[in-house]
Amino acid sequence: MDNYAVIGNPVAHSKSPQIHLAFAQQEGVSIDYRRILADDETFVATVEKFFHDRGCGLNITLPFKVKAYQQCTELNDYAQAAKAVNTISFSSTGDWIGANTDGIGLLRDLKSNLGVELTRKNVLILGAGGAVRGILLPLLQENPSQIVIANRTYEKAEALAKEFIAAGTISSSQFSDLKSSKFDIVINATAASLSNQIPPVSATVLKSETVCYDLAYSDQDTAFLNWAKTHHAGTTSDGLGMLIEQAAESYFIWRGFRPDTGSVFSLLRPNR
Ligand code: ATR
Repeated sequence: MDNYAVIGNPVAHSKSPQIHLAFAQQEGVSIDYRRILADDETFVATVEKFFHDRGCGLNITLPFKVKAYQQCTELNDYAQAAKAVNTISFSSTGDWIGANTDGIGLLRDLKSNLGVELTRKNVLILGAGGAVRGILLPLLQENPSQIVIANRTYEKAEALAKEFIAAGTISSSQFSDLKSSKFDIVINATAASLSNQIPPVSATVLKSETVCYDLAYSDQDTAFLNWAKTHHAGTTSDGLGMLIEQAAESYFIWRGFRPDTGSVFSLLRPNR
């Protein structure tokens, strides 16, 4: 049986085993997919042991995506731009081959599942951490009119916008300077949802057709999505679809089989 796993800390909450086992069922194969808990000291040895135990592929989750990136001998363009890796395959000699499927996952969820096009749209991204770095290149490749990054610590937004300027029209802003702009798509990539907080963004950025997307996912609406609904945003979505789409891309990288994601979404969220 082919072996896969997700490595993180914490990792007990991860939905990846359920998602990948559903993909394998679609493919008509049996795979083993487990959760592995590691820490900073054991991460590299844990990946190496996994390969030596005939492991085929790994998902990397927080907080090891940057460490994984640093250890890979080969990287795809998205991993290179993100400076973070969420998917590892191995060469026959055990070299780590890194990919980042987070941005493609977001893009597929927006475009294929929610019917949201990015071309010629004004996009606002809230936050400037690792999650934003992971999505910027694929978003810019869709040729939006502009991407504006706003962050509590402005300098981080400014540095990120500078780093990606060659890939498209991107700039940074203080939250307080956004008041006179309207956006078609607002993506919350701050960690605020995790503590049930709302990033300090004015509702004046919203139009009646604005799409508000939270990278975080939860069976109840996140604080950001509640805020968006209260202020009559056009469409709201959490990041469960992105989670499933990024997993599907990992599965495709490992096995060359492209799973149907809609049925897995229904499995994980049967009431919607
Ligand atoms: P991740 O890898 O999930 O992006 P991160 O690198 O720690 O995690 O980044 C967290 C992001 O959430 C940052 O942009 C952070 O803002 P700062 O750079 O100013 O710290 C943002 N963030 C966290 N809590 C927030 C809150 N309560 N309000 C607004 N932004 C918040």
